[in-house]
Amino acid sequence: MRKNAVVFGATSGIGKELAILLAKDGYTVAITGRRAEKLAELKATNPEKYIAKQHDVTDIKASEVVFKELIDEMKTIDLVVYSSGVGGPNYELEWEKEMTTIATNVIGATKIFGLAYNLFKKQGHGHLVGISSIAGIRGNRHVPSYFASKAFMSSYLESLWMKARRTKKAKIYITDIVPGFVETKMATGNTFWKAPLDKAAKQVFAAIKNKKKKAYITKRWRLVATFLRIAPATLVMKYL
Ligand SMILES: NC(=O)c1ccc[n+]([C@@H]2O[C@H](COP(=O)([O-])OP(=O)(O)OC[C@H]3O[C@@H](n4cnc5c(N)ncnc54)[C@H](OP(=O)(O)O)[C@@H]3O)[C@@H](O)[C@H]2O)c1
Repeated sequence: MRKNAVVFGATSGIGKELAILLAKDGYTVAITGRRAEKLAELKATNPEKYIAKQHDVTDIKASEVVFKELIDEMKTIDLVVYSSGVGGPNYELEWEKEMTTIATNVIGATKIFGLAYNLFKKQGHGHLVGISSIAGIRGNRHVPSYFASKAFMSSYLESLWMKARRTKKAKIYITDIVPGFVETKMATGNTFWKAPLDKAAKQVFAAIKNKKKKAYITKRWRLVATFLRIAPATLVMKYL
């Protein structure tokens, strides 16, 4: 049977690698992002497998339009992955930077999560995957909005997971992917345990296949998460 997926933020990094794995696995994959040339490049590798939609997740009206177009084209959507994300240091708390991070990682994500969840309820099934971050566990004095945005995302996904468990009319799966450091343009600088992109994408793919509630990428980051949850803030701020 034909399987359909949408990956938001498939122009580079984790989203792109995951889109490739999903296409190899037999999915027809709708790929989105702002950079049209990157979408065209990926589509050209296997035109039958990809539907390209240029889209900015901070444009909430456009999210509704794109989602409707995809439902019209694909009829059912089995999997929605939200990999769009931005964030970086903001030492002076410049508003533009904070706002862009919140618009992308919080408001844009919440809109797509809602559209996906309600579609899955209507069609009777579906799997929603969000890429949050180990950053969501604690605060960070240099990167406040990014860390807070990922806390929001993890909490929101857990809420949807709880909601899905109580829904009798539809089989809905929710997965929170929690990466540590992955070799992409987002993870700049000398960081420890930086996973190669292909390894990270394979683990994300496996977590989706196994319909995990939460998956640390790579797996060893579960240990760091445990430490971060119990460590005092004065200790955390030495390392984060
Ligand atoms: N790399 C890491 O170490 C790491 C660690 C933890 C979590 N993560 C999370 O993993 C996710 C993927 O990041 P990555 O590491 O793969 O970095 P990346 O290569 O920079 O990918 C980010 C993706 O987000 C998309 N995006 C950004 N702003 C957007 C917007 N306004 N509208 C639509 N798409 C937008 C980008 O597409 P366009 O620019 O074409 O729009 C791109 O496809 C992010 O949510 C990130 O927070 C990454």
